[in-house]
Amino acid sequence: MKLDPKRSSYLPTPATLKRKEKLSEHVSLFVFEPDNGTLLGHKPGQFIMVSVYGVGEAPFSVSSAPVPDSKQFELAIRRTGTVTNAIHELEPGDRIGIRGPYGTFFPVQEFMGKDTLFIAGGLGYIPLRSLLHYQLRHRDEFGRIIVLVGTRNPRERIFTDQIMELGKRPDVEILETVDQPDQCWEGHCGVITTLLPKVDINPENTYVAMVGPPVMYRFVLSGCEDKCIPQDRIYVSLERRMKCGVGKCGHCQINGLNSCIEGPVFRYDRIAPLKEAL
Ligand SMILES: Cc1cc2nc3c(=O)[nH]c(=O)nc-3n(C[C@H](O)[C@H](O)[C@H](O)COP(=O)(O)OP(=O)(O)OC[C@H]3O[C@@H](n4cnc5c(N)ncnc54)[C@H](O)[C@@H]3O)c2cc1C
Ligand code: FES
Repeated sequence: MKLDPKRSSYLPTPATLKRKEKLSEHVSLFVFEPDNGTLLGHKPGQFIMVSVYGVGEAPFSVSSAPVPDSKQFELAIRRTGTVTNAIHELEPGDRIGIRGPYGTFFPVQEFMGKDTLFIAGGLGYIPLRSLLHYQLRHRDEFGRIIVLVGTRNPRERIFTDQIMELGKRPDVEILETVDQPDQCWEGHCGVITTLLPKVDINPENTYVAMVGPPVMYRFVLSGCEDKCIPQDRIYVSLERRMKCGVGKCGHCQINGLNSCIEGPVFRYDRIAPLKEAL
C-alpha cells in the first residue's frame, strides 16, 4: 500500500470516520480512513492536524501503531472545546480533513533489543499506545515491556478492556494506579510515581517512554534518576498549543524550539536545560 506523495503540508486531505467507541465519559476512540486509499504513514509518537469543516483545526496524536497493510488509523479524543466537541458529534460516514503526520517520534530502532518502561499519565496513554502496539506487533525484537498507567480516578480510565487483556499476557508487565479511588476500585492507589519502586529494572538496558500531564514529569523524572536511568535513554512527549503544525506560526515554542517540528517527542537530556520545557 502506498503513501500519498502529493499530500500537502497546508491543505487538508479528506478522511472518513469508520467507527467510534466511548472510552470514558469524555474520551472516545475514532477510527478514520483516508479517502484516497493511501496510508497515513505515521510513526509512533507523531500527531496529525484534524479539521472539522466549518469549525476549526486541532492536533491529535495517532494512537494506533503503523500497520503496513491497514489504511485505518485511530485517534482517542477528549471533549474539551470547540473542535473536540465537533469531532465527538461525528457519526460513521462523516468526513474530516487531515494534515500530517507531523513531528518527531519514538526511535523504535534504538529501542530494539532493549527493555522499555512506559509511563502513561492520564491521556498520555493515547500516544504511548501507538509505540506499545508497535512493540507488541514486533514482540521478538524488543526486551521486557513494562507499562505503568496512572489515572486521576477509576471513571477516567481509558482502554480499560485492552489494558486488562494486556495484564494477562506473560510477556507484558503492567501496573495501574488511580490517584483517587472509589468504592469499587480494588487496585493500587496513589500517584504514578508510587508505582516506580514496584518495578525492578536494569538501568543499563532500559529505555523510558513517558507521556502525561505537565505536573507529572518532574516527579517521574526524579524517580527515573533514582533508578539510575541515563537522561539520554528517556523520551518524553510534550504538548504545546499548536496552530500550523509545520514550524511557521510560533505558537508551540519552548525556549525558541518549535515543538511541532522539533517535538513533540524529545530526548530528555536535550530539553533538561530548557527553562520552559518541564
Ligand atoms: C501534539 C499534540 C497531541 C495531542 N494529542 C491529543 C490526543 O491524542 N487526544 C486529545 O484528546 N487531545 C490531544 N491534544 C490536545 C488537543 O489538541 C486539544 O484538546 C484541542 O486542541 C482542543 O481544541 P478545542 O477546539 O476542542 O478546544 P478549545 O475550544 O480551543 O479550548 C478548550 C479548552 O482546552 C484548552 N486547550 C486547548 N488546546 C489545548 C492544548 N493543546 N493543551 C491543553 N489544553 C488545551 C483551552 O485552554 C480551553 O480551556 C494534543 C495536543 C498536541 C499539541
Ligand atoms: S504550531 Fe506553528 S510553529 Fe509549531
